[in-house]
Amino acid sequence: MRSEYCGRVSRAHLGQTVTLNGWVHRRRDHGGVIFIDLRDREGLVQIVCDPDTPETFATADMLRNEFVLKVVGRVRERPQGTVNPNLVSGEIEVLATDIEILNPSLTPPFQMDEEHLSETVRLEYRFLDLRRPQMQKNLRLRYRTAMAVRKFLDREGFIDIETPMLTRSTPEGARDYLVPSRVHPGHFFALPQSPQLFKQLLMISGFDRYYQIVKCFRDEDLRADRQPEFTQIDIETSFLTQEEIVVMMEALVRETFTEVLDVELPNPFPRIGYDEAMALYGSDKPDLRIALTLTELTDVMKTVDFKVFREAAQLEGGRVAALRVPNGGALSRGEIDAYTEFVKVYGAKGLAYIKVNALERGAEGLQSPILKFLSSEVTAQILERTGAKDGDLIFFGADTAKVVNDALGALRLKIGHERGHAEAGWRPLWVLDFPMFERDEEGNRWNAMHHPFTAPADGHEDLLDTNPGAARAKAHDIVLNGWEIGGGSIRIHREDVQSKVFRALAIDKEEAQAKFGFLLDALQYGAPPHGGIAFGLDRMVTLMAGAESIRDVIAFPKTQRAQDLLTHAPNTVDEQQLRELHIRLRQAEPKKD
Ligand code: AMO
Ligand code: AMP
Repeated sequence: MRSEYCGRVSRAHLGQTVTLNGWVHRRRDHGGVIFIDLRDREGLVQIVCDPDTPETFATADMLRNEFVLKVVGRVRERPQGTVNPNLVSGEIEVLATDIEILNPSLTPPFQMDEEHLSETVRLEYRFLDLRRPQMQKNLRLRYRTAMAVRKFLDREGFIDIETPMLTRSTPEGARDYLVPSRVHPGHFFALPQSPQLFKQLLMISGFDRYYQIVKCFRDEDLRADRQPEFTQIDIETSFLTQEEIVVMMEALVRETFTEVLDVELPNPFPRIGYDEAMALYGSDKPDLRIALTLTELTDVMKTVDFKVFREAAQLEGGRVAALRVPNGGALSRGEIDAYTEFVKVYGAKGLAYIKVNALERGAEGLQSPILKFLSSEVTAQILERTGAKDGDLIFFGADTAKVVNDALGALRLKIGHERGHAEAGWRPLWVLDFPMFERDEEGNRWNAMHHPFTAPADGHEDLLDTNPGAARAKAHDIVLNGWEIGGGSIRIHREDVQSKVFRALAIDKEEAQAKFGFLLDALQYGAPPHGGIAFGLDRMVTLMAGAESIRDVIAFPKTQRAQDLLTHAPNTVDEQQLRELHIRLRQAEPKKD
């Protein structure tokens, strides 16, 4: 039907007759001559229709945006002064000899080159939104990324094995999506939150190296970097140490970036322990593009007059820390108030500060609402530890470590970006030495920090019983520019250790047997040492594409409210279908708020 893609017609075709297919991107009537930008997935080409070919001209006159055409014409040079250096086809144009309308179009709700579109309209008309050159580019980038990953893994001897979608709950910490069984009344499948247990079983089965680019489902609160269904590059190996896995996975990321973006990532990636990440950045996924770090002050504040600092410093699990903002002295009262409001979202009760005007003038040279509560020794310690210079501002957080880390961690990012402390480029990082467990919200039981199949660090097996909070895990997260793009671990391959972890999580024998009996059984039939990782493909591609939301690299994503605006899913179903599934709907409960 065509001889060349629109976006690929170039000087090489000069003088030739080409047949093109594509969509009317724009049509301009220049009094007597009609120009059409014809678009296909490769780009645009300019079609010219002049009245010398009256039939063609008449057709051109009827064209509207997004009509689908077949155009036959001769390639010629553009007149001087009309060359467009941004297009492959920018030096030529096609003088149409024949135009056939293959299909007209209704007037689209937006132009394909419009910017700042409402996301609601984009998602309702996703089939049109995906015609936009940026979206075409994003999805091709996604494809090339997946291909680069497959190529690497194939070369390293990994094989792609599919695992079930209709399965049992895999605990990754989110709520399950459930599928009712028609055949077994009152029974439900869960859609997998990840293939975690299956990939471990495949190791026990002796496949040695497994991978899968696979959908995972999690019913959790959505954000810009989360979708209810998302894609993992899921990987598992046997007989490799954590170090060997980390080195290989790092090579995978490096090769993918080189191949897809022609970017050289650092070799090796820097590594940081979990404790150090929290201490310096208040986050286990620090954005290293931002030069600012937190300063520890808990020990300094134990006996100060300022009650807020003293109490936080004395609290078990409390923290007092500072964030020095170079040249922050220029911040106005209003700006400081706005940052104070910002940290409140993270639970902070205030945001004390010291402006450092002139160090050589001692207390005179400082400006702060809290100075009067701090001795000169403490003030001197603050200035020394933060490395304060004239013109700086120091912010303080005092609360539980969680609140301080969340608040100052987020403030670090915000100020870093807003006040020019962020550099461009790619800053990957491994985060290692995670704790095995963290306290749940109420603080009365332990939850697995990664998942309950993560192996404890060598020699930490006994801590699982005696002091779970101190046990470290053989877990590894990979972070890029402040996004967790992957996470994994060495797994427990012995039943006795797995049972200990369940005990620490207050999962009793019966429950463990009921939920994970198949795994506990399998571990007793010669399970090899194994481990792996899963990358969030959507997140990786979002970063690579420079997109703002993972919705921009997923063809048919859901909204922040977990809805598909195109198909209107989720939706109600017939009474008959519910009956077959043995389901009767409850009256919608009255809303509490
Ligand atoms: P984890 O839960 O860390 O590990 O998930 C791995 C990676 O998947 C991405 N990710 C998401 N992306 C988009 N939307 C979501 N809702 C979402 N949730 C997670 C992140 C994350 O780093 N089975 C383990 C892996 C393992 O241990 O091998 C797992 O699923 O980029
Ligand atoms: P106050 O004595 O409550 O007026 O607080 C004095 C200063 O300390 C103000 O700048 C507050 O914003 C700040 N502040 C209060 N509580 C905290 C806290 N938990 N962490 C950091 N700063 C705080």
